Amino acid sequence: MDSVKFYFDNKLQEIDFSTISPTTTVLDFLRSYPGRFGTKEGCAEGDCGSCTVVIADPENGKFEYHAVNSCMVFLPSLHGKFLITVEDLAQDNYLHPIQEAFVENFASQCGFCTPGFEMSLFALYKETTEPSDEQITEAVEGNLCRCTGYRPIRDAAASLRGVIERDNITEKEPQILQALAGIPMDQTLDLRYKDQRYLIPFHLDKALDLIAQYPEAVLVNGSTDVALRRNKLKEKIRLVIDLSFLLEIKELRIQDRNLIIGAGVTVQQLKNFVKDLLPPLYDYLKVFAAKQIRNRATVGGNIMTASPIGDLIPALITLGAQVTVADKNSEKSYSLEEFITGYRQTRLQKGQILKQITIPLSEDWFFGFYKVSKRTSLDISTVSLSAGVLVKDDVIEDIILAFGGMAAMVKRSTAAEDFLRGKNVSEQNFVQAGQLAAQQFQPISDARSSAQARSVLAKNLIVKFYTDLTQKLGK
Ligand SMILES: Cc1cc2nc3c(=O)[nH]c(=O)nc-3n(C[C@H](O)[C@H](O)[C@H](O)COP(=O)(O)OP(=O)(O)OC[C@H]3O[C@@H](n4cnc5c(N)ncnc54)[C@H](O)[C@@H]3O)c2cc1C
Ligand code: FES
Ligand code: FES
Repeated sequence: MDSVKFYFDNKLQEIDFSTISPTTTVLDFLRSYPGRFGTKEGCAEGDCGSCTVVIADPENGKFEYHAVNSCMVFLPSLHGKFLITVEDLAQDNYLHPIQEAFVENFASQCGFCTPGFEMSLFALYKETTEPSDEQITEAVEGNLCRCTGYRPIRDAAASLRGVIERDNITEKEPQILQALAGIPMDQTLDLRYKDQRYLIPFHLDKALDLIAQYPEAVLVNGSTDVALRRNKLKEKIRLVIDLSFLLEIKELRIQDRNLIIGAGVTVQQLKNFVKDLLPPLYDYLKVFAAKQIRNRATVGGNIMTASPIGDLIPALITLGAQVTVADKNSEKSYSLEEFITGYRQTRLQKGQILKQITIPLSEDWFFGFYKVSKRTSLDISTVSLSAGVLVKDDVIEDIILAFGGMAAMVKRSTAAEDFLRGKNVSEQNFVQAGQLAAQQFQPISDARSSAQARSVLAKNLIVKFYTDLTQKLGK
């Protein structure tokens, strides 16, 4: 019988899933594991961070440490990896430097959130010994605390700057890497439990064979969306094909003035990659969920949800993205705009996967990406605008204004675009374009916002883009 192997609790664990469902989350696994109750369940939907653990992936002979929400991760996806929980930090009655810092700075009151914060900061500690204020904020943006207040927690993190004490986990790295190196990562894993089946292919051609054979299977990558079906809707997913081990869809590179993004690239990887390449996109991705979610959420998964309020679809449409889908026999490309066909609908056929996204890089276009939400981090947008413009001699040659949250799917404001093409860059023109955009859409009222407020936001976001454009043009 196939089994999943990963390193945890000072040993290689082997789970054959004969007695446990493969869609068990890492959080549920931990809550039933003796002595590992430090990881807490607050929301079971990725929103509070109290379940944060660190998953270390072996990459080129060393570990890459990622803080993730264990409530959103299916247990089989740990195969070949090293799972670290708060119980692993202290050793022989000595606290880890992060835990010491929490004590010294009074960074814990009731303590419910503390393991989650410490794990988020442990991942940061492994990333850098000189974290900037921005990096500290980013590390804990997905963790909620009801009692301590965030300042002492940030102080605790800042007090670790320059601390390079070797810790318990760092010392064991070579031995753990060696243990993981012996785990086969080649033959498809077929995990079965009662009427559930979970397939893990390690090569794209194998994955495409399986998808052709089982077109009804639920594809999963980062599982930040699919896990909600299990946690919140209590759905028993009978057949899963896990794409998260396919190196062929994790490519992220520039080729012939195109940015090539594999569908399995995480939002955090994309964010880091575009920091200097497309700074407005980098800033926009900072407010995509929170770091624990970005570390898992994939670009392909975000497109495939085809959500009208998802962050990537409007941005990628404005950047002129093409998507490539693949099946067992062929590949086909569409513009992203034609690929999305309706509310949570795409052109993807049964038997296909989304393989790659290609963005043409242009220095002539100016871009602005704006997301309005109720809070900065860990919130989905109420309305968003992704705007791009090509200006020559103060005349708008071309413009794209893609809105999220204004219709059942991401939509361009053709009325505003048509009006602005050929016009000068002036406040009056952009204000009028904003009015046309507001008239074009009939948004809905829901828990996030009234329809009227959405229309005002759409209008104002176009004016915001104008102000950013004039700064760029030095007007
Ligand atoms: C707390 C929280 C906050 C969030 N905040 C945001 C946010 O701010 N902005 C935002 O846009 N989204 C947000 N999301 C939604 C989610 O994180 C994203 O949509 C994410 O990008 C999904 O990627 P994934 O890899 O986790 O997808 P999965 O959950 O693995 O899959 C999602 C869907 O895509 C399909 N799929 C995945 N990969 C492929 C592929 N290669 N080919 C074909 N189908 C595929 C799956 O079958 C499934 O239907 C949030 C989610 C949570 C839980
Ligand atoms: S339990 Fe709240 S993020 Fe997992
Ligand atoms: S210390 Fe009580 S929730 Fe943070």
